Amino acid sequence: MSTPNHTQGWPAAPLAPFGHFKDVRQSFGRGSGSPLVAIDNITFDVTQGSLVTLLGPSGCGKTTFLKIVGGLIPATSGTVQINGRNVTAPHEDFGVVFQQANLMPWRTMIDNVLFPMEILKLRDATAVSRARELLASVGLEGFENAYPSQLSGGMQQRVALCRALIHRPKLLLMDEPFGALDELTRMEMQDLLLDIRAKTNATVMFVTHSISEAVYISDIVAVFSKRPAVIADFIKVELPYPRSAEMRYLPEFTELEHRAGRALGITR
Ligand SMILES: Nc1ncnc2c1ncn2[C@@H]1O[C@H](COP(=O)(O)OP(=O)(O)OP(=O)(O)O)[C@@H](O)[C@H]1O
Ligand SMILES: [Mg+2]
Repeated sequence: MSTPNHTQGWPAAPLAPFGHFKDVRQSFGRGSGSPLVAIDNITFDVTQGSLVTLLGPSGCGKTTFLKIVGGLIPATSGTVQINGRNVTAPHEDFGVVFQQANLMPWRTMIDNVLFPMEILKLRDATAVSRARELLASVGLEGFENAYPSQLSGGMQQRVALCRALIHRPKLLLMDEPFGALDELTRMEMQDLLLDIRAKTNATVMFVTHSISEAVYISDIVAVFSKRPAVIADFIKVELPYPRSAEMRYLPEFTELEHRAGRALGITR
C-alpha cells in the first residue's frame, strides 16, 4: 500500500482509499413544520493519510457532517464508510478535537491526555510515557502536572490535540479547533498539525471557516455550499510540503483562495 510522504512534496499516486461518502443527507425534524435539510447529497472520497478541510458558511452543516463521519449521529440517508466499514457508532480509531479544548479542570494536563486510555482500559506505564512524549512534541514539556486554568487557550488546545492522538487514531476529526486562537498562535498550530500528520500519517478531516487556513493546511479543500449543503467545489492543493509561511504570499496560494472564495459565492 503506498502512503503519502508529506515531508517531500505532493504524494505519489495511487493513494489508498480511506473515507467514502455517497449521497449523505441529513434532515432534522422541526416539530409540526417541514424538516430542516442540513446537508443534501454530499459525495466525495478521502484517501488514506490526506488532510481534507470542510470549508463553508456558518450553519451549512459542517459540524453535522463531521458528527456523521465520527458516528456521533446517524445520517438520514446515504453511505458513510471509513476504512471499508460502514460507520454506525463512534469508533476507537477516531480522535476528535473541538473548537473549545473541553479539558477537565480538576485533572492535570497529563491526566487529561490519558483520559481516553482510561476509558479504553489501556492506561499503563507505556501510555503514560507516550502522553509525556506527545506533550513534549507540542512544546508542553514541564507542564504535565499543571491544571487547565494555569494554561493559555493555545496551550489547552495543544493538550486537546494530544488527548485526541493518545490512542493513535487512524482518523482525526477536527471541528474549528483553532477558531478561538489568536492569529499567530493559530498559524503555529497549523504547522504543528502538519508536523503531527507527517509523523503519524493519520487521515485528518478539519472543519474551518477560514479560507487561508483551509488552503494552507490541506491536500483537498471540500467547499460546502449554503444550507442545504452540497459540495460546491473540491479543490486539490498542490503546494509542496513542508508548507511554510512564505507560501501564503505566492500567486498560486492566492489563486486557490480566490477559487475557494468563488465557490463560497463571496468573490467572482
Ligand atoms: N440536533 C439538531 N437538531 C435540529 N437542527 C440541527 C441539529 N444540529 C444541527 N441542526 C441544524 O443544522 C444546520 C447545520 O448545523 P451545523 O452545526 O452542522 O452547521 P455548521 O456548518 O457547523 O455551522 P457553524 O460554522 O456555525 O459551526 C443548522 O441550521 C442547525 O440549526
Ligand atoms: Mg459547526
